[in-house]
Amino acid sequence: MKYFLDSAKLDEIKIAYEQYGFDGVTTNPKHIMNSGKPFKKAIQDIADYVADKPDFPVSVEINPHLDNADDMVAYAKDISAISKNFVIKIPTNKQGIIAARRLEAQGIRTNMTLVFSAAQSIMPGKLHAKYVSPFVGWREDYGDDGLSYVKDIVDIYKTYNFDTEIIVAAIRTAKQLEQAAIYGADIVTCALSVYETSFTNPYTDLGLKTFQDAWDNTKTE
Ligand code: E4P
Repeated sequence: MKYFLDSAKLDEIKIAYEQYGFDGVTTNPKHIMNSGKPFKKAIQDIADYVADKPDFPVSVEINPHLDNADDMVAYAKDISAISKNFVIKIPTNKQGIIAARRLEAQGIRTNMTLVFSAAQSIMPGKLHAKYVSPFVGWREDYGDDGLSYVKDIVDIYKTYNFDTEIIVAAIRTAKQLEQAAIYGADIVTCALSVYETSFTNPYTDLGLKTFQDAWDNTKTE
């Protein structure tokens, strides 16, 4: 299973790559806003950092105001020219599907984003998008069972041998991350803080304290 960092902050991206060996990055307009930089500057800084890291994909979203395939394709081509690592996030709607088909046919890789049902995940698989991104956290925020449709997507993709990789996105808790892994998702993407919480457990700290006490009550020689 691959771990992607969901952030546009360069300091976090460096930690993800250099300290934890994560596998890629996803950004979105909220993350770019939170980076505090203008859009083009934020993505150029990331492009410069990943220039010598060919196996470290970075998803960058098109202008979310675009509402027709022609404009989406033009915008996607413009930002994809900035870096070979860029995978272009396209909304999963009618115009987005038309745009993503054209882009994939021209060798521009796409991440079909904002997927909220298993039915919605089928076209991204059929058109050979590089990634499909079900947003589990957003559904759970509204009281839905956000994760069971991930299992359905995994099953559908296996049945039809779709080569699109499933990124379980908007993960907010270690439990959601664990469930995505149990369901067999290819990739998870979440904030650094969610990953770091998942690396730890209070029992590990308790166990360590127990061992420290034992160590302190044992002669070294
Ligand atoms: C994924 O590609 C998205 O950027 C992301 O997971 C959005 O979720 P958020 O609301 O946690 O930022």
